[in-house]
Amino acid sequence: MAETRSHRVPSRWDRHQLEQWDDRYLWHPFTPQSVYREEEPLLIASGEGCYLVDVDGKRYLDGVGSLWCNLLGHRRPEIDSAVRSQLDQIAHATLLGNSSVPAIRLARRLAKLAPDPLTRVFYSDSGSTAVEVALKMALQFWQQHAEGEQSERKLFLGLSEAYHGDTVGSVSLGGIDLFHRRFGPLLFDVVRVPSPTGYRWPEGFTAPTYQRHCTEVMERTIREQGQRLAAVVVEPGFQGAAGILTYPEGYLERLASVTREVGALLIFDEVAVGMGRSGSLFACQREGVVPDLLCLAKGLTGGYLPLAATLATEEIYEAFLGAPEAGRTFFHGHTYTGNALGCAAALATLDVLENERLLEGLPLKCDYLRRALDRLRSRPAVGQIRQYGLAVGIELVSDRKTKEPFPAADRVGPRVCRSARDRGVFLRPLGDVVVLMPPITISRRQTDQLVDAVEHGIREVLG
Ligand SMILES: Cc1ncc(COP(=O)(O)O)c(C=O)c1O
Repeated sequence: MAETRSHRVPSRWDRHQLEQWDDRYLWHPFTPQSVYREEEPLLIASGEGCYLVDVDGKRYLDGVGSLWCNLLGHRRPEIDSAVRSQLDQIAHATLLGNSSVPAIRLARRLAKLAPDPLTRVFYSDSGSTAVEVALKMALQFWQQHAEGEQSERKLFLGLSEAYHGDTVGSVSLGGIDLFHRRFGPLLFDVVRVPSPTGYRWPEGFTAPTYQRHCTEVMERTIREQGQRLAAVVVEPGFQGAAGILTYPEGYLERLASVTREVGALLIFDEVAVGMGRSGSLFACQREGVVPDLLCLAKGLTGGYLPLAATLATEEIYEAFLGAPEAGRTFFHGHTYTGNALGCAAALATLDVLENERLLEGLPLKCDYLRRALDRLRSRPAVGQIRQYGLAVGIELVSDRKTKEPFPAADRVGPRVCRSARDRGVFLRPLGDVVVLMPPITISRRQTDQLVDAVEHGIREVLG
């Protein structure tokens, strides 16, 4: 298969020259530029199956699926060929007041795959914009719902530690203090409830009592805000950027039920967990809870192209109908919305998922990974291993008993990941949480390589 194909790197790329240009001209996202070069970044020239290949031809297992988006491996022949065929037709045409073949086909396919009553697909270009769209849709929906009867619904409720992206709306909604400190003047207020984490809790609680407390606070707050809430927004399955924090049993169900009770909309941000990583195509199916708005991106195109989708119910969609002069149109749209190449890649991704019945095989893979991780559990620096589907967060701590983190300046997480690279695995941590989110096509041998590399990294950095 793809694994055995040639990965010869075109000789015109000179590493030294590229590094000079990289240092001189490029500003990397979420990257402390002052230590960028010291941390020996990879310089990728190509990819092959679950591997990235650098300019020197060295192969690295892509342990984080190229930031959680690569679903089926790199240079997947079916997706490559779908994008090439689409290129022979057209790369892009606007979707504003217009349509295109792959955009229509993908919308129909997603609407049929999504649980009822999610029937409408609105495209955008990234996870952040998928969430931003959902926020704006919810707000405008209430203004136009039942002649504005419920128009006092302007507030959004989110969780602490949540991450929903980097646009102003999605940062507002997110619960990451550092980003709020930096961008505070740009942000709007959000009603925030504590993340029901099962790892750290305030004094006087135990894990179960704290999780119960968080559930009660969430229920009480939603009821208190009641008619003022436009929507409750949550990442189902796990809070990704928070360090793959999973929820206690029944939490999402209760959140959905109390949200319905007060009549607010429920928004699921499945940007990270959607498209199969949970073991179901959409995590809401695994959780048995259907939202009013569902945000998808990352794996939607198999990790090939920037395409996102916000799925909405027919009821929401209908609130936007009316004569153009009534101003009920949804006032949002990007130049590249519904890009034809992205839609073709997404259709091919869905074909591969279906034809190879990849989701049916996922529970076995998840189990294998869970067992492979067992050998890390007793290591003194491993505070907790959290797994949801094929997503894992391994939290490293200086004291397992007290859960004391390492000093941030020690950069333990990045050093462990750097060391894992010596075993041919590329990882990107979240602070001191080592994240594993490989393509779902990962084999047993590659899973072993992944876990061996993490173990090697921990041993080398922490003894
Ligand atoms: C849950 C969630 N929502 C939104 C986003 C933002 O997606 P993007 O980086 O494509 O804008 C991310 C990115 O990691 C995410 O994990």
